[in-house]
Order: sequence, then C-alpha cells, then structure tokens
Amino acid sequence: MKALVYHGPGQKAWEEVPDARLQEPTDVVVRVDTTTICGTDLHILGGDVAAVTDGRILGHEAVGTVTEVGDAVRGFSVGDRVLVPAVTKCGRCEYCQRGMPSHCQTVGGIGWIFGHLIDGTQAELVRVPYADTSLYLVPDAVTDDQAIFLADSLPTGYEVGVLAGGVRPGHTVAVVGAGAVGLSAILTMGLWGASRVIAIDSNKFRLEKAIEFGATDAVEAGPNAVADVLSRTDGLGVDVAIEAVGYPETLLTAAALVRPGGTIANIGVHGRPVELPMQDLWIQNVTLTMGLVDTVSIPTLLTMVASGRIPAEKLGTHHFTFDQMDQAYDTFAHAADHLALKTVITPA
Ligand SMILES: NC(=O)c1ccc[n+]([C@@H]2O[C@H](COP(=O)([O-])OP(=O)(O)OC[C@H]3O[C@@H](n4cnc5c(N)ncnc54)[C@H](O)[C@@H]3O)[C@@H](O)[C@H]2O)c1
Ligand SMILES: [Zn+2]
Ligand SMILES: [Zn+2]
Repeated sequence: MKALVYHGPGQKAWEEVPDARLQEPTDVVVRVDTTTICGTDLHILGGDVAAVTDGRILGHEAVGTVTEVGDAVRGFSVGDRVLVPAVTKCGRCEYCQRGMPSHCQTVGGIGWIFGHLIDGTQAELVRVPYADTSLYLVPDAVTDDQAIFLADSLPTGYEVGVLAGGVRPGHTVAVVGAGAVGLSAILTMGLWGASRVIAIDSNKFRLEKAIEFGATDAVEAGPNAVADVLSRTDGLGVDVAIEAVGYPETLLTAAALVRPGGTIANIGVHGRPVELPMQDLWIQNVTLTMGLVDTVSIPTLLTMVASGRIPAEKLGTHHFTFDQMDQAYDTFAHAADHLALKTVITPA
C-alpha cells in the first residue's frame, strides 16, 4: 500500500510500505476513503513531537470502509463505513470508564495514538486497535466530506471549547482564533443558545467564514481588539472566552475579555509557559479550563450533522487525491494564501 511516511523534521514522503494488517483480535483494518491534515501534523513535521519517530505513517483523522475484522470484534463487519476518530479507547481502563479516553491507559497512556505512537490514517489502509470501542458507524445521512471533520476538529471545538466553557442560553462568547477548531466551536455553539458570538482573528477570510458559520460579530486581532470587544459588551466582557490558537498572547486576550464569574476555555496546544494576570483574575471569580479532546461527543455530533443542524462539510475548502499529498500539505500549511480551512484528501 502507499502511505505518507514521516522521516524526521521537515521530511515526509508518499511511498510504498507493507500493507496494514491485523495484529490483535480486537483490531480491524480500514480502507481509507477520506482523510485530512491537522495543525498537529504540521507540529510533528516541525519536529515538535518527539514521540513521532522516523518511519511513522502520519494522520489521525479518517473515514473509510472495513476490509478485515479481528476474531474478537463483534460490532463491525467487512464493508461497514466507519469514522476513525483521533482518539482510540479500550473502554475498560479507569480513564475510559470515567469518560476520559483522552488518557486511555491501555493504548499507551494517551488516547491519541494514530500518526503518533502507531501508524496513522494518511494511508491507503490503517489498522485500528480496540475497534469495537473506538470506531463509529457513519449513518447514511452523513457524507464522507462531513464525517471526516468529526474525527477531531468538531469534537475539539465542542468539547474543549463550548462544553468546557459552559456556554448557556443568552451567553455572550468570544472565540479567539477562527481556524478549523475555533470555527467548529462557532458551528456547535448555537446548540446551547449563545446570543452573541464574537470571533477574533488576524485572517480576514476566516472572519468572513466565522460570520457565515454563525458568529454575530467579527473583530480583527490587534492592539484594539480587547477594547473593541469590551465596547460591544457593555464594558463587561464576555461570559465565555474560548482560546483556539495556542500562543501566550491569545490566551492573555481571552483572559482580558472574560467578565466576572465567566470562564476562559483554553483549547490551544501551548509550547511555552504563559504568565497570567492572577492579581486581576482571582477577584473576578474566573474559571480556567483546558484539556485534550476525548471525542466522546461524536455520537451527538453525528446526529446533529445527520439532521442538518451542523453543516460540517463547510470546513473542507480544498480537495486533493492521495498522490497530491504534498500539495495538500502545502495548501494547509499556507492556509491564508490559499483561502483554505481544511483539506479533504481521497484516493482518486
Ligand atoms: N485541545 C485539544 O485537544 C486540541 C485538539 C486539536 C487542536 N488543538 C489546538 O487548537 C488550536 C487551533 O487549531 P486549528 O486547527 O484551528 O489551528 P489553525 O492554525 O487552523 O487556526 C488558528 C487560527 O488562529 C489565528 N491566529 C493566529 N494568531 C492570532 C492572534 N494573535 N490573534 C487571533 N487569531 C490568531 C490564525 O489566523 C488561525 O485562523 C491549535 O493550537 C491546535 O493545536 C487542540
Ligand atoms: Zn488533530
Ligand atoms: Zn482505556
């Protein structure tokens, strides 16, 4: 089979490798029909994720068709159309049982293993461990171009942003960063009845998308952004400030926007320490949340996509085939130049 293989920082190749095959009775093998690229894949290629070593097949998002089934698998059969989510779960360890498969102990201490600790989904075939408890059947009403964004972006924006932030009817919410994840928070926020949703980004195209996806206000990032948001919220700020970038300055922006009693929901992956103004925050009764996505909201989100309430397909702006993997990466890495959100990559 062919797959996108990581060969150290800055090095990757779409090349011939041995076929993915069953290794454990709880495995299935899936033929990948659609995959995509995550910001995390760019971090890996930048050399930021030391656990990813030379020879690893990249990718942690896929929709595909089951081609082989291990002896212990009960819930899936050859031919099933399935969603392969970013997080794998054994279903039995303490973290899985308390609903936090992001820290599944059985698969390596962290639920994100594809394209990280084991071979991933940017390939013609992928081995899926603990298939019964990890895979989701895709309903007929949901297309591959929709389901692919349920593997990571949508559950992340929803769980780590909207749910962790405690968005409730009537709330005013700011979303700092309107990439696929911030936009996913915006796409799912209406489910909780937020009355005002203010998107903040430096990229004008993404601010336009934010309005199209349900934001009520768009604010350009910069020195006046905080004052601008305060002036739109009676000087008080927002009930929930979602951070979806991952830089110290954007977390500080979120902290400057939250009103007393509000919540800062950090989604961004941070690579360095951030100094928060605790002298101001403590007396404001502010809550700060953060975390790795569990993807446990996938069944809910699948239902909402199937009923037309979440237009997930809108996150995909560019289509490529497997043999155009380099172009797909280039477009995603220079998203602003290409007016891109996520890429959709299919065999042909
Ligand atoms: N917690 C989790 O489980 C989890 C899962 C997936 C992704 N993430 C993280 O979520 C973050 C967002 O992911 P993404 O895929 O949407 O990334 P992205 O790069 O597509 O989007 C980031 C957005 O932030 C904007 N931005 C950059 N600097 C800014 C600034 N100073 N002010 C305002 N906006 C600014 C960019 O223009 C871009 O639109 C990343 O840090 C990613 O690693 C976290
Ligand atoms: Zn990801
Ligand atoms: Zn587990």
